[in-house]
Amino acid sequence: MGGGIDRVRAQYEVYPYPSRNPDDEARRLVVGSPSHLAEIEHYCFAGRLPRPFRALVAGGGTGDGLVMLAQHLHTRGIEAEVTYLDLSAAARSVAEARIARRGLRNVRFVTGSLLEVARLAPGPFHYVDCCGVLHHLPDPDAGLLALVSVLAPDGALGLMLYGELGRTGVYPMQRALRLLAADLPPAEQVRLARRLLGGLPESNWLRRNPFLGDRQSESDADLYDLLLHSQDRAYRVPQILAMLETAGLSLAAFIEPAKYEPATWLGDTVILERCARLPEADRWALAEDVAGAMKAHVFYAVRRARAGQSMARADAPDAIPVLREIQPAALARTLARGGHLKVALDGRELKLPIPEGIAEIVAAIDGRRTLAEIRRLTGYAEADFAARHARLRALLAPLNLLLCRY
Ligand SMILES: C[S@@+](CC[C@H](N)C(=O)[O-])C[C@H]1O[C@@H](n2cnc3c(N)ncnc32)[C@H](O)[C@@H]1O
Repeated sequence: MGGGIDRVRAQYEVYPYPSRNPDDEARRLVVGSPSHLAEIEHYCFAGRLPRPFRALVAGGGTGDGLVMLAQHLHTRGIEAEVTYLDLSAAARSVAEARIARRGLRNVRFVTGSLLEVARLAPGPFHYVDCCGVLHHLPDPDAGLLALVSVLAPDGALGLMLYGELGRTGVYPMQRALRLLAADLPPAEQVRLARRLLGGLPESNWLRRNPFLGDRQSESDADLYDLLLHSQDRAYRVPQILAMLETAGLSLAAFIEPAKYEPATWLGDTVILERCARLPEADRWALAEDVAGAMKAHVFYAVRRARAGQSMARADAPDAIPVLREIQPAALARTLARGGHLKVALDGRELKLPIPEGIAEIVAAIDGRRTLAEIRRLTGYAEADFAARHARLRALLAPLNLLLCRY
């Protein structure tokens, strides 16, 4: 194994990431993207999860994605095995303790490099999560190919890679700290980084970057990950698409889809008309370039042969609409009031006009009822219901708030 990977392993042995206390599992579940089960079903498997479901969480760290996915599968009673793989034994022990605290039995743990996944955990897997890991490899493309080698033919991946523009200012500080602190032990490096942050001039790009939060209040693990990493790079949309292409993959969706549409960031009608004529990959790239705020790209990918087939059809009568992490009653009340729906996307507050007549549908969504059942419950005639449901989807689906399964 190369020296680069050894340095990365050493970092995560000292600072397992993210910093988590297993006792907290008693009071909350950390949820996010990728690998929310509702997203996997919707974006990767056309609403129908293969069973028994086999997933790999590669570079699982202290277990955020692992715990969420294993808990979601258990709660839904889906027969499944989730394999955790990470270089760091320290990260694994935190993840193991979190899984044990929840009494989950659908996880197995493996320690080692994802570059050796074919030997360590040959799969095949229906789904591979790799969140915030490939950009720490000396050769991220080789890492992705290793993951694809254990992917089932109808499999999918959920990935997160750093975003170049939203991380403006990070790399100059990494360079400065390499010059200043490379010879120090990790805890001293963190102390020195805090001193440096405390005295930066106003012109410094990290200080001027509002998208990265308050660096001084970060945990040591977070600060180390941000500013002292021995190996990290960031991506823009075209590079991500090229990386997928090389691996024989195709993009299923960026999360949230709305962030990758220029209309989310721009209002000028002449410009938006021109945007609308661009191929979608160019629209996504343009959205990133004008937003300037994306510090990470979360996305799902499938094998090229399944391009365009993995997304669930949301309008069939037997589709089961699912609200992602929102209480239907609360959302229905907001929608019934009319006006605007306020949502924050990468530092921008959007005020989206609420269409008429959609609140009753939302109130009837419970994650079990089909569209046909919801229509009967609301009493709308077929065409009227279809129009209302289309308006609801147009509002919520681009925000990743309304998904569906079968
Ligand atoms: C930034 S953390 C992300 C953890 C987790 N995926 C999350 O999103 O919370 C990166 C993790 O990847 C692991 N890692 C880095 N390179 C790896 C490799 N080649 N094989 C397996 N794990 C690796 C590290 O040990 C660390 O736990």
